[in-house]
Amino acid sequence: MKKKDLISITDYTKDEYLRIMELSREFEQNPNQDLLKGKVIASLFFEPSTRTRLSFETAISRLGGRIVGFSDVGSSSVSKGETLHDTIRMVSNYADLIVMRHPLEGSARYAAEISSVPVINAGDGANQHPTQTLLDMYSILKTQGTLDNINIFMVGDLKYGRTVHSLLMALSQFEKPVFNFIAPYELQMPEEYKIYLQEKGIRYFEHPEFNEIISEADIIYMTRVQKERFSDPIEYEKVRNVYILRNQMLKDTKPNLRILHPLPRVNEIHNDVDANDKAYYFEQARNGVFAREAIITHTMNLK
Ligand code: CP
Repeated sequence: MKKKDLISITDYTKDEYLRIMELSREFEQNPNQDLLKGKVIASLFFEPSTRTRLSFETAISRLGGRIVGFSDVGSSSVSKGETLHDTIRMVSNYADLIVMRHPLEGSARYAAEISSVPVINAGDGANQHPTQTLLDMYSILKTQGTLDNINIFMVGDLKYGRTVHSLLMALSQFEKPVFNFIAPYELQMPEEYKIYLQEKGIRYFEHPEFNEIISEADIIYMTRVQKERFSDPIEYEKVRNVYILRNQMLKDTKPNLRILHPLPRVNEIHNDVDANDKAYYFEQARNGVFAREAIITHTMNLK
Protein backbone atom coordinates (compact mmCIF):
# COMPACT_ATOMS: atom_id res chain seq x y z
CA MET A 1 0.00 0.00 0.00
CA LYS A 2 1.28 3.51 -0.89
CA LYS A 3 2.31 5.44 2.22
CA LYS A 4 0.10 8.37 3.14
CA ASP A 5 2.27 11.45 3.76
CA LEU A 6 0.78 14.81 4.80
CA ILE A 7 3.08 17.47 3.39
CA SER A 8 0.71 20.03 1.87
CA ILE A 9 -2.92 20.60 2.75
CA THR A 10 -3.69 19.74 -0.89
CA ASP A 11 -2.51 16.16 -0.24
CA TYR A 12 -5.96 15.58 1.27
CA THR A 13 -9.26 15.56 -0.59
CA LYS A 14 -12.34 17.35 0.72
CA ASP A 15 -13.64 13.96 1.89
CA GLU A 16 -10.44 13.47 3.89
CA TYR A 17 -10.85 16.93 5.51
CA LEU A 18 -14.34 15.89 6.57
CA ARG A 19 -13.07 12.53 7.83
CA ILE A 20 -10.44 14.33 9.96
CA MET A 21 -13.20 16.58 11.36
CA GLU A 22 -15.28 13.50 12.25
CA LEU A 23 -12.30 11.73 13.87
CA SER A 24 -11.31 14.89 15.79
CA ARG A 25 -14.78 15.02 17.30
CA GLU A 26 -14.51 11.33 18.19
CA PHE A 27 -11.12 11.85 19.88
CA GLU A 28 -12.38 14.92 21.73
CA GLN A 29 -15.09 12.72 23.26
CA ASN A 30 -12.68 9.84 23.95
CA PRO A 31 -9.02 10.95 23.75
CA ASN A 32 -7.40 7.89 25.34
CA GLN A 33 -7.36 4.97 22.89
CA ASP A 34 -4.57 2.40 22.62
CA LEU A 35 -4.36 2.51 18.82
CA LEU A 36 -0.58 3.14 18.70
CA LYS A 37 0.38 0.33 21.09
CA GLY A 38 3.74 -1.05 19.93
CA LYS A 39 4.36 1.85 17.52
CA VAL A 40 7.26 4.30 17.66
CA ILE A 41 6.82 7.84 16.32
CA ALA A 42 9.77 10.12 15.56
CA SER A 43 9.31 13.78 16.44
CA LEU A 44 12.04 15.75 14.62
CA PHE A 45 11.95 19.49 15.32
CA PHE A 46 14.71 21.39 13.54
CA GLU A 47 12.97 24.66 14.49
CA PRO A 48 11.44 25.83 17.82
CA SER A 49 7.87 24.86 18.69
CA THR A 50 5.64 24.70 21.74
CA ARG A 51 2.12 23.83 20.56
CA THR A 52 2.81 21.66 17.53
CA ARG A 53 5.45 19.50 19.19
CA LEU A 54 3.70 19.17 22.55
CA SER A 55 0.27 18.54 21.06
CA PHE A 56 1.70 15.89 18.73
CA GLU A 57 3.50 14.28 21.65
CA THR A 58 0.36 14.47 23.79
CA ALA A 59 -1.67 12.93 20.95
CA ILE A 60 0.86 10.07 20.58
CA SER A 61 0.88 9.46 24.36
CA ARG A 62 -2.93 9.44 24.51
CA LEU A 63 -2.93 6.88 21.69
CA GLY A 64 -0.49 4.63 23.60
CA GLY A 65 2.51 5.15 21.27
CA ARG A 66 6.15 5.89 22.09
CA ILE A 67 8.14 8.93 20.98
CA VAL A 68 11.78 9.28 19.89
CA GLY A 69 13.40 12.38 18.45
CA PHE A 70 14.75 15.81 19.26
CA SER A 71 13.48 19.31 19.81
CA ASP A 72 16.88 20.94 19.45
CA VAL A 73 19.15 20.19 16.47
CA GLY A 74 22.12 20.91 18.75
CA SER A 75 21.48 17.56 20.44
CA SER A 76 21.43 15.66 17.13
CA SER A 77 24.21 14.79 14.66
CA VAL A 78 22.92 17.58 12.39
CA SER A 79 25.21 19.77 14.53
CA LYS A 80 28.14 17.63 13.28
CA GLY A 81 27.13 18.25 9.67
CA GLU A 82 24.84 15.27 8.98
CA THR A 83 22.51 16.03 6.09
CA LEU A 84 18.70 15.96 6.16
CA HIS A 85 18.90 13.09 3.67
CA ASP A 86 20.99 10.91 5.98
CA THR A 87 19.01 11.88 9.09
CA ILE A 88 15.73 10.81 7.47
CA ARG A 89 17.24 7.58 6.05
CA MET A 90 18.35 6.68 9.57
CA VAL A 91 15.20 7.66 11.44
CA SER A 92 12.92 5.83 9.00
CA ASN A 93 14.81 2.67 10.03
CA TYR A 94 13.74 3.25 13.63
CA ALA A 95 10.21 4.68 13.61
CA ASP A 96 6.79 3.87 12.11
CA LEU A 97 5.99 7.54 11.37
CA ILE A 98 7.99 10.79 11.21
CA VAL A 99 6.63 14.17 12.32
CA MET A 100 9.02 16.89 11.16
CA ARG A 101 9.37 20.67 11.40
CA HIS A 102 12.16 22.30 9.42
CA PRO A 103 13.00 25.92 8.48
CA LEU A 104 13.49 25.18 4.76
CA GLU A 105 10.54 25.34 2.36
CA GLY A 106 10.22 22.03 0.53
CA SER A 107 12.17 20.09 3.18
CA ALA A 108 9.13 18.04 4.23
CA ARG A 109 8.42 16.90 0.65
CA TYR A 110 12.11 16.01 0.27
CA ALA A 111 12.00 14.02 3.53
CA ALA A 112 8.89 12.15 2.34
CA GLU A 113 10.70 11.13 -0.85
CA ILE A 114 13.57 9.64 1.17
CA SER A 115 11.59 8.08 4.01
CA SER A 116 10.22 4.55 3.88
CA VAL A 117 7.62 5.48 6.54
CA PRO A 118 4.96 8.23 6.31
CA VAL A 119 6.01 11.83 6.99
CA ILE A 120 3.78 14.51 8.51
CA ASN A 121 4.85 18.10 7.87
CA ALA A 122 4.76 20.08 11.13
CA GLY A 123 5.75 23.27 9.27
CA ASP A 124 8.36 23.86 6.53
CA GLY A 125 9.62 27.44 6.47
CA ALA A 126 7.06 29.91 5.14
CA ASN A 127 5.49 27.21 2.98
CA GLN A 128 2.84 24.99 4.64
CA HIS A 129 1.58 23.92 8.06
CA PRO A 130 -1.18 21.44 7.16
CA THR A 131 -1.84 20.01 10.63
CA GLN A 132 -2.40 23.55 11.95
CA THR A 133 -4.91 24.03 9.15
CA LEU A 134 -6.83 20.90 10.08
CA LEU A 135 -7.08 22.02 13.71
CA ASP A 136 -8.09 25.50 12.49
CA MET A 137 -10.82 23.93 10.37
CA TYR A 138 -11.99 21.87 13.34
CA SER A 139 -12.10 25.09 15.40
CA ILE A 140 -14.12 26.86 12.70
CA LEU A 141 -16.50 23.92 12.39
CA LYS A 142 -17.00 23.75 16.17
CA THR A 143 -17.68 27.47 16.52
CA GLN A 144 -19.61 28.17 13.30
CA GLY A 145 -21.35 24.79 12.84
CA THR A 146 -20.20 24.70 9.19
CA LEU A 147 -17.21 25.17 6.91
CA ASP A 148 -19.37 26.74 4.18
CA ASN A 149 -19.97 30.48 3.57
CA ILE A 150 -17.28 31.59 6.03
CA ASN A 151 -16.29 35.25 5.91
CA ILE A 152 -12.72 35.24 7.18
CA PHE A 153 -10.38 38.15 7.91
CA MET A 154 -6.69 37.21 7.79
CA VAL A 155 -4.59 39.83 9.53
CA GLY A 156 -0.85 40.42 9.95
CA ASP A 157 1.98 38.59 8.23
CA LEU A 158 0.30 37.05 5.21
CA LYS A 159 3.58 36.70 3.33
CA TYR A 160 5.57 34.47 5.69
CA GLY A 161 2.63 33.13 7.73
CA ARG A 162 2.44 29.55 6.47
CA THR A 163 -0.78 28.85 8.40
CA VAL A 164 -2.81 31.33 6.34
CA HIS A 165 -1.55 29.83 3.09
CA SER A 166 -2.71 26.34 4.04
CA LEU A 167 -6.02 27.57 5.48
CA LEU A 168 -6.83 29.58 2.36
CA MET A 169 -6.38 26.50 0.18
CA ALA A 170 -8.45 24.26 2.45
CA LEU A 171 -11.41 26.64 2.90
CA SER A 172 -11.46 27.11 -0.87
CA GLN A 173 -12.81 23.54 -1.16
CA PHE A 174 -16.01 24.58 0.66
CA GLU A 175 -19.02 26.67 -0.43
CA LYS A 176 -18.53 30.39 -1.06
CA PRO A 177 -15.82 31.50 1.38
CA VAL A 178 -14.97 35.22 1.38
CA PHE A 179 -11.39 36.19 2.21
CA ASN A 180 -10.35 39.60 3.55
CA PHE A 181 -6.62 40.28 3.70
CA ILE A 182 -5.19 42.95 6.01
CA ALA A 183 -1.40 43.17 5.95
CA PRO A 184 1.38 45.74 5.78
CA TYR A 185 2.49 46.39 2.19
CA GLU A 186 5.69 44.36 2.73
CA LEU A 187 3.78 41.33 4.09
CA GLN A 188 0.84 41.00 1.70
CA MET A 189 -0.65 37.70 0.61
CA PRO A 190 1.66 36.34 -2.13
CA GLU A 191 0.39 36.61 -5.72
CA GLU A 192 0.30 32.84 -6.19
CA TYR A 193 -2.46 32.50 -3.55
CA LYS A 194 -4.48 35.38 -5.04
CA ILE A 195 -4.20 33.76 -8.47
CA TYR A 196 -5.33 30.47 -6.90
CA LEU A 197 -8.50 32.20 -5.62
CA GLN A 198 -9.09 34.03 -8.92
CA GLU A 199 -8.90 30.78 -10.87
CA LYS A 200 -11.49 29.22 -8.56
CA GLY A 201 -13.77 32.29 -8.80
CA ILE A 202 -13.51 32.90 -5.03
CA ARG A 203 -13.96 36.44 -3.74
CA TYR A 204 -11.17 38.16 -1.83
CA PHE A 205 -10.57 41.76 -0.76
CA GLU A 206 -7.47 43.59 0.42
CA HIS A 207 -7.86 46.34 3.02
CA PRO A 208 -5.39 48.84 4.47
CA GLU A 209 -6.96 48.61 7.94
CA PHE A 210 -9.57 46.51 9.76
CA ASN A 211 -11.05 48.55 12.58
CA GLU A 212 -14.03 49.80 10.54
CA ILE A 213 -14.87 46.62 8.66
CA ILE A 214 -14.71 43.65 11.04
CA SER A 215 -18.46 43.81 11.78
CA GLU A 216 -18.89 41.42 8.79
CA ALA A 217 -16.43 38.81 10.04
CA ASP A 218 -17.26 35.26 11.14
CA ILE A 219 -13.60 34.56 11.85
CA ILE A 220 -10.71 36.95 12.47
CA TYR A 221 -7.49 35.00 11.99
CA MET A 222 -4.67 37.01 13.55
CA THR A 223 -1.03 36.18 12.83
CA ARG A 224 2.33 37.11 14.29
CA VAL A 225 4.88 38.97 12.18
CA GLN A 226 7.46 36.22 11.64
CA LYS A 227 10.61 37.89 12.94
CA GLU A 228 12.73 34.81 12.21
CA ARG A 229 12.05 35.12 8.44
CA PHE A 230 13.46 38.68 8.18
CA SER A 231 17.11 39.10 7.18
CA ASP A 232 17.04 42.85 8.06
CA PRO A 233 15.91 43.73 11.65
CA ILE A 234 15.04 47.30 10.56
CA GLU A 235 12.46 45.89 8.13
CA TYR A 236 10.95 43.87 10.99
CA GLU A 237 10.74 46.94 13.26
CA LYS A 238 8.83 48.83 10.54
CA VAL A 239 5.95 46.32 10.45
CA ARG A 240 5.79 44.67 13.87
CA ASN A 241 3.23 47.04 15.44
CA VAL A 242 1.01 47.85 12.46
CA TYR A 243 -2.05 45.73 13.36
CA ILE A 244 -3.07 45.18 16.97
CA LEU A 245 -6.50 43.82 17.90
CA ARG A 246 -7.98 45.41 21.04
CA ASN A 247 -11.12 44.51 22.96
CA GLN A 248 -12.93 47.79 22.25
CA MET A 249 -12.72 47.03 18.49
CA LEU A 250 -15.01 44.00 19.01
CA LYS A 251 -18.09 45.78 20.33
CA ASP A 252 -20.14 45.84 17.09
CA THR A 253 -19.08 42.45 15.77
CA LYS A 254 -21.32 39.46 14.96
CA PRO A 255 -22.34 37.18 17.86
CA ASN A 256 -20.82 34.17 16.10
CA LEU A 257 -17.46 35.90 15.55
CA ARG A 258 -14.48 34.00 16.92
CA ILE A 259 -10.88 35.19 17.03
CA LEU A 260 -8.31 32.61 16.03
CA HIS A 261 -4.53 32.78 16.15
CA PRO A 262 -2.14 29.86 15.58
CA LEU A 263 0.01 31.27 18.43
CA PRO A 264 2.52 32.20 19.69
CA ARG A 265 1.37 35.82 19.80
CA VAL A 266 3.67 38.72 20.51
CA ASN A 267 1.55 41.90 20.72
CA GLU A 268 -0.91 41.57 17.81
CA ILE A 269 -3.76 40.58 20.15
CA HIS A 270 -3.88 42.80 23.21
CA ASN A 271 -4.29 40.93 26.51
CA ASP A 272 -7.62 42.70 27.07
CA VAL A 273 -9.15 40.53 24.32
CA ASP A 274 -8.46 37.30 26.27
CA ALA A 275 -11.49 37.68 28.55
CA ASN A 276 -13.86 38.32 25.62
CA ASP A 277 -16.08 35.30 24.82
CA LYS A 278 -15.10 35.74 21.16
CA ALA A 279 -11.43 34.98 21.91
CA TYR A 280 -10.94 31.36 20.90
CA TYR A 281 -7.17 30.93 20.45
CA PHE A 282 -6.47 28.91 23.60
CA GLU A 283 -9.35 26.49 22.85
CA GLN A 284 -8.04 26.36 19.27
CA ALA A 285 -4.66 25.16 20.59
CA ARG A 286 -6.45 22.55 22.73
CA ASN A 287 -8.26 21.29 19.62
CA GLY A 288 -4.78 20.55 18.21
CA VAL A 289 -4.47 17.40 20.31
CA PHE A 290 -7.69 15.89 18.92
CA ALA A 291 -6.96 16.92 15.33
CA ARG A 292 -3.46 15.41 15.58
CA GLU A 293 -4.81 12.17 17.03
CA ALA A 294 -7.10 12.11 13.98
CA ILE A 295 -4.28 12.86 11.52
CA ILE A 296 -1.93 10.24 12.98
CA THR A 297 -4.55 7.46 12.96
CA HIS A 298 -5.68 8.41 9.45
CA THR A 299 -2.06 8.47 8.19
CA MET A 300 -1.35 5.06 9.71
CA ASN A 301 -4.65 3.55 8.51
CA LEU A 302 -5.70 2.80 12.09
CA LYS A 303 -9.22 4.27 11.78
N1 CP B 1 0.97 27.16 16.02
C1 CP B 1 2.25 26.72 16.07
O1 CP B 1 2.79 26.17 15.12
O2 CP B 1 2.85 26.94 17.29
P1 CP B 1 4.31 26.43 17.66
O3 CP B 1 5.29 27.18 16.78
O4 CP B 1 4.48 26.73 19.12
O5 CP B 1 4.35 24.97 17.36
